[in-house]
Amino acid sequence: MKVGDRHYRSIWREDETGKVMIIDQRWLPHEFRIVSLDTLEDFETAIRDMWVRGAPLIGATAAYGIAVEMARDPSDAALDNAWDVLHETRPTAINLRWALDDMRSLLRNTPVERRADEAMRRAAEICDMDVEANRQIGLHGLEILRAIARKKAPGEPVNVLTHCNAGWVATVDWGTATSPIYHAVEDGLGVHVWVDETRPRNQGAQLTSWELNSHGIDHHLVVDNAGGHLMQHGDVDVVIVGTDRTTASGDVCNKIGTYLKALAAHDNDIPFYVALPSSTIDWTVHDGLAEIPIEQRDETEVTRVFGKLDDGSTASVQISPDGTPGANPAFDVTPARLITGLITERGIAEPSREGLLALFPERRD
Ligand code: MRU
Repeated sequence: MKVGDRHYRSIWREDETGKVMIIDQRWLPHEFRIVSLDTLEDFETAIRDMWVRGAPLIGATAAYGIAVEMARDPSDAALDNAWDVLHETRPTAINLRWALDDMRSLLRNTPVERRADEAMRRAAEICDMDVEANRQIGLHGLEILRAIARKKAPGEPVNVLTHCNAGWVATVDWGTATSPIYHAVEDGLGVHVWVDETRPRNQGAQLTSWELNSHGIDHHLVVDNAGGHLMQHGDVDVVIVGTDRTTASGDVCNKIGTYLKALAAHDNDIPFYVALPSSTIDWTVHDGLAEIPIEQRDETEVTRVFGKLDDGSTASVQISPDGTPGANPAFDVTPARLITGLITERGIAEPSREGLLALFPERRD
């Protein structure tokens, strides 16, 4: 998507140098910093410390991490080690394992002398596939927004609530939850977005607001606890969120707080959609609550906040008394029964095993 007058993806290979470049998201929205990832250790750090984040982008970054390592050492041992190192970085987003498995099975069947080139080619292809999947998600989601708009008074915008950042910087481009919004706005539909701040790391405040602001899309940032109130007062027409792992039976694991939004939407009869490329479906998992590992992050993300000071510099400040312990589960699971539909690149699935298999019949045993 556009930043200033240039089109960016969130990860790309520079033509002149062949280097893999990313936007270092830790500094957004205050600074737009681009860095190269040159070694396996760089990729490990960038994923673990959330220079890049968002399930699809984590997968794409891991694919390039394997490719960069293959350029250094294309042996089986290096391939297996890179798989292990990158797989350890973050436990919840399944796109990570999806991309690593994809790369390893391809490269295992590639002669060693061709592995470096083949790995770079496939990593670029994984990025392109993500962009196209998200574009399709946007077109399917646009139909939902159009249908809502038809029921509203002329000129009234469709009010979408979203949680965390499932925007273009969480993917390679377009975003998942935001893709229908970008498509709707391009189509001339009036859309207004409620952006949950998304404590503790504030991906909504820092990233989704930045994206929507850059694209001139009408939005308001709200605290995480405001969603239920807005829904009770008729100010939300639809909730659209992303996901880090969706089970074969349609349970959705996403950023902590998503479940509470789904409960409030259910209580207020508001449609609750989840947007995802099929690389986010874990076909091996059926019970989201019991089987999905939930990342526990550092307590300082809870006891401190990061932001811009009045003098323009950025800083992390403590918000709790010295010594207060913090607990920081980063994701939660929304059961399929609270979800209206799963917006995938192949269309909108009912959140159930049969619903998903109707769109992905090749997954039927
Ligand atoms: O911890 P993060 O920032 O990686 O979490 C991101 C989310 O929870 C997103 O909603 C999810 O990855 C979907 S991104 C299209």
